[in-house]
Amino acid sequence: MMMATMGGGWSRYLVLLLLVLLYSAPGGVWGQYVLGHGYAVRSISTSPDGKSISAKLCLINASDKYGPDIQNLDLNVWYETPTRLRVKITDSDRPRWEVPQEIIPRGTQKPFIHGGRRLLGSSTAPPPEGGKFSVPDSDLVFTYTTNPFNFFITRRSSTETLFDTRTGTNNDPDGSVAGLVFKDQFLSISTSLPAGSSSIYGLGEHTLRSFRLGGNDYLTLTMWNEDIGSSAVGLNLYGTHPFYMDLRAPSGKAHGVLLLNSNGMDVIYRPSQITYKIDGGILDFYFFAGDTPAAVVQQYTELIGRPAPMPYWSFGFHQCRYGYKNVEDLEGVVDGYAKAGIPLEVMWTDIDYMDQFRDFTLDPVNFPLNKMKSFTDRLHQNGQKYVLIVDPGINVHQDYKSYVRGLEADIYIKRNGQPYLAQVWPGPVNFPDFMNPASLPYWQREIQEFHDVIPFDGLWIDMNEVSNFCSGTSCKLPANGPCPRPGQQTQCCLICDNSNMTIYDNPPYKINAGGSRRPLGERTLSASTEHYGNVLEYNAHGLYGLTEARATKMALANVTQKRPFVLSRSTFVGSGVHTAHWTGDNSATWDDLAFSISGMLNFGLFGVPMVGSDICGFNGQTNEELCNRWIQLGAFYPFSRNHATITSRRQELYLWETVTESAKKALGLRYKLLPYYYTLMYQAHLTGSPIARPLFYSFADDINTHGIDKQFLIGKGLMVSPILRQGQSSVDAYFPAGTWFDMFDLNTSLSVPSGRTITLDAPLENINVHVRAGSVLPMQEVAATTAEARKTPFTLLVALGNGEGAEGELFLDDGEQVEMGGAGNGWTLMQFHAVMQGNAVKLSSQVQNGDYALGQKLLIETVVVVGLKPRSQLKELILTVNGNPVDVSKVKVAMEGKGDNGVAVINGLCVVVGQNFELTMQMA
Ligand code: NOJ
Repeated sequence: MMMATMGGGWSRYLVLLLLVLLYSAPGGVWGQYVLGHGYAVRSISTSPDGKSISAKLCLINASDKYGPDIQNLDLNVWYETPTRLRVKITDSDRPRWEVPQEIIPRGTQKPFIHGGRRLLGSSTAPPPEGGKFSVPDSDLVFTYTTNPFNFFITRRSSTETLFDTRTGTNNDPDGSVAGLVFKDQFLSISTSLPAGSSSIYGLGEHTLRSFRLGGNDYLTLTMWNEDIGSSAVGLNLYGTHPFYMDLRAPSGKAHGVLLLNSNGMDVIYRPSQITYKIDGGILDFYFFAGDTPAAVVQQYTELIGRPAPMPYWSFGFHQCRYGYKNVEDLEGVVDGYAKAGIPLEVMWTDIDYMDQFRDFTLDPVNFPLNKMKSFTDRLHQNGQKYVLIVDPGINVHQDYKSYVRGLEADIYIKRNGQPYLAQVWPGPVNFPDFMNPASLPYWQREIQEFHDVIPFDGLWIDMNEVSNFCSGTSCKLPANGPCPRPGQQTQCCLICDNSNMTIYDNPPYKINAGGSRRPLGERTLSASTEHYGNVLEYNAHGLYGLTEARATKMALANVTQKRPFVLSRSTFVGSGVHTAHWTGDNSATWDDLAFSISGMLNFGLFGVPMVGSDICGFNGQTNEELCNRWIQLGAFYPFSRNHATITSRRQELYLWETVTESAKKALGLRYKLLPYYYTLMYQAHLTGSPIARPLFYSFADDINTHGIDKQFLIGKGLMVSPILRQGQSSVDAYFPAGTWFDMFDLNTSLSVPSGRTITLDAPLENINVHVRAGSVLPMQEVAATTAEARKTPFTLLVALGNGEGAEGELFLDDGEQVEMGGAGNGWTLMQFHAVMQGNAVKLSSQVQNGDYALGQKLLIETVVVVGLKPRSQLKELILTVNGNPVDVSKVKVAMEGKGDNGVAVINGLCVVVGQNFELTMQMA
């Protein structure tokens, strides 16, 4: 009765009036925002140390789309460091899946209010207009609104807004709601971007047409690790990296944003907005203040872990192929490289070496033990290395020991209590669960036993998204007939059923996996399988490759007692701590050649600096010109490997004369630069800095660099400008301001007072590589192997210009001790400084831990100084070592140079590496 009265007459107007008041209040739902989902701040408190706040949010606008909303949320904001701000939003009443600390250790920040109970600090009602929260030593300022709750992050030192959830526009063609949405299986939040002045990079793993996201494009970047070849533009690929760098113009300032979440998600990018739509987990944002690109990656890898050091040998050239027929085939390839005089460091074998495609076995016919032993022995005698592939799928067969041991150790991923049956190369498989602690001793034992048989030097872990040739919630063996069927190895031969799908296999919000908004679990594990501790695959899907890489790295280190080399196809946030990465199955096309640069640059930002693409292309048929241009570019990838699939033509570099010539030239420079690459590895391990970098890394103030992805830097000042199109013999290369020297002809230089595009000749045998004034590059000689190259004398290339000095570094250790630059004295760091003082050039070294290098008895024999005044002559040369004068009467000096560039080549120095020296060149 009462209700009936309320429903009509004046009460209708009262309700309307209340609604109008609510929505038109400052910051009200209709204030500046479109009506959508939302929460309001109910109470808020600050921690006693003033570094974090904690708030309770309650639902104010609900919708049933994608399931019921969660009523109460906890918001926690921490200044974890002066440059890192964390914003975490989760259910107040029920624990939810979070990426385990144990898998990505990242400090233990606990909310100081938990489960609604106040532990510390005092909880108050929030000011109606919201509030600001900041700490004195951070440039990041957190501001929130109360009703509805939103937050934005600004820079104290400028007026820039870095992240702003107040965006209410529903920019999404799939028609979902605006505002903060928090449901059991659907979370969504958006940030607005200042279109036109913000360049976004990252959010992988995808192949996109440009390194910088989008332009005016609307991109749906799905993250769900899948076995999709990297030639597929725009689709979700093997890894998940919900991290981006935002570089602003004109300020040139950068910041970073990580959403730490391992559930499937779509990140929708458009120039004015980024929207996250996630299938589960929590909202756990980390903001990195930068404000240089280098600082962002440093701060990011400080959180997720610094990149693993890679052994010295892994910087040599690698040859691989799916489809090597037998040991003789492998030997022929090794010989082919030797005969052609192209350095080959590492020979690889794909699944061909296995017996019935089972891990840790050898094909007794084509790759028999005795022959494989002599093959690897010979490689090792030559100073070469051997890497082989291992897949995670363990063939289900009672006569296969690795399988039985896995069963006994009870380490397989399960569904309904039974190991989940899938299919990969060997046929029916189970997958070890690398989240299960018992999988570590299991995996190490398998690796150890196989290593006892074949002394491989590194492991390649493939198919670990995981890839499954079948799809289904449960599969069983066929009653009759072989599985796999002959000649149909990649066709599903199991009998699979999808009738018992759960809400995890088929969640209400369908991410755009594979470009087709389908249920999860297509050609991978069913999302309702379970890991150790009843963790659902639905939640942990992104973590498989990471946990396998971690287990493999640990096992290899224990088994070999050397620095492990692991190459993983699937990656997640933090994978760089354990593994190198290649960009997967590209195609032998010119487009894919160009895409390889963005792929490499992205992984540099993701903290995986050891990265490269399959040189000459994996799928399809390569050709001489493409392979030629590809080795010219690929010689400068941090990880440089030629690889092709079984149906491709052979593409070893020595098969064509022009490719041989280019390979010798480009790899020749790469090998001379090995000390530089290795030192960059050390810097990467120490600070996270990528080895291969976008131009904006060194030239963020030059906004022309923000969109460049056809060129890249190695370290600070070495720039590679490859040919990426068929039939071209010149390249339009952008040169940021400065003086640049041609690495293949140091007499040639060009100076640009401000950034400029210059057309450079690039005939078939040439790639353009320039070094910028300001660098000192440590170099050695080319040799057949990195071990031989390491014994050759050093040259220091000192690039001067415009009266500027130059700097560089050299890191030395044995290249295979497990740690790099850790405790102990097994390493040396030499820093070089060159200054111009009047007419004199002074080059000096500062040595840390000299003993290691001194023990190697290596010499710096040559110093090449470029960028001197033209036609200058050397009047006097003075060398002191450890403060003592050294006789230089036998030193030879040649003055060279062209145009504006004076070059001095000083030969016959005998400075022992590891000493403090000062070389003064008095010029006239
Ligand atoms: C897929 C990998 O991406 C590729 O590199 C490899 O050759 C094949 N699996 C066969 O193992």
